[in-house]
Amino acid sequence: MQYKVKHLAVIMDGNGRWAKQRGLPRIEGHRKGAEAARLLIQNSHNFGITYLTLYAFSAENWNRPKQEVSDLLGLLGLYLKQELSSLHNNGVRIKVIGDLSLLEPSLQRQIHDAVNITCDNKGLTLCVAFSYGGRAEILRACKALIQKSSNHNLEMSELEFRQYLYDPEMPDVDLLIRTSGERRISNFLLWYIAYAELYFTDILWPDFSTIDLQNALEDFNLRTRNFGFARTE
Ligand code: IPE
Ligand code: IPE
Ligand code: MG
Repeated sequence: MQYKVKHLAVIMDGNGRWAKQRGLPRIEGHRKGAEAARLLIQNSHNFGITYLTLYAFSAENWNRPKQEVSDLLGLLGLYLKQELSSLHNNGVRIKVIGDLSLLEPSLQRQIHDAVNITCDNKGLTLCVAFSYGGRAEILRACKALIQKSSNHNLEMSELEFRQYLYDPEMPDVDLLIRTSGERRISNFLLWYIAYAELYFTDILWPDFSTIDLQNALEDFNLRTRNFGFARTE
């Protein structure tokens, strides 16, 4: 089947509950979640998705217990180390959005290296949202704008405003998937999801399989997107 989704965004939720159900520490859920992300990345390319944005760590996740935060940071570093060459060989272009200044300099360097090494790749764009908050992103854009401020800016269009967001190239989200039965946005991609189709599933993120992805993409194919215009069917 030909899928229509170009930009897929995913709130990968439920790692902790997945681990708890098995009597395992939460980090095991996060590890298994990273494997599910690897599978999703492979599948995305095959299913015609060009832009994939993954919510890996929110601005609010800094409030989790110290140990879990450090486990999650460690997992990002490990993931980049283990996956970089295979992502690069598969033509994946890596981007990272979020307040990276809060990360250890060595992890920041690792991220910048991964972004630089893959920046000319022409395959899937994989955008990882880490230490990311949608409000913080918009506020940061406004601050940058004020610094450059002139009366001319009062004429600014939405398209021009986008230049101040973390990733000016990011297209609007077509489909937003959230796993684990939660039905909220949790401060993810506020600007870009204005007209996204939303898909919620009870599956916990570590269990999210190829079939689950196909179900979501098929569901999207059946939706009618009006963008405010009169319905044509
Ligand atoms: C999502 O899983 C991963 C992150 C937020 C980093 P959770 O850790 O939120 O899992 P639950 O919601 O507690 O099950
Ligand atoms: C959202 O999940 C963030 C990520 C998946 C990285 P949370 O589990 O942190 O969201 P809330 O706190 O339940 O809204
Ligand atoms: Mg959660």
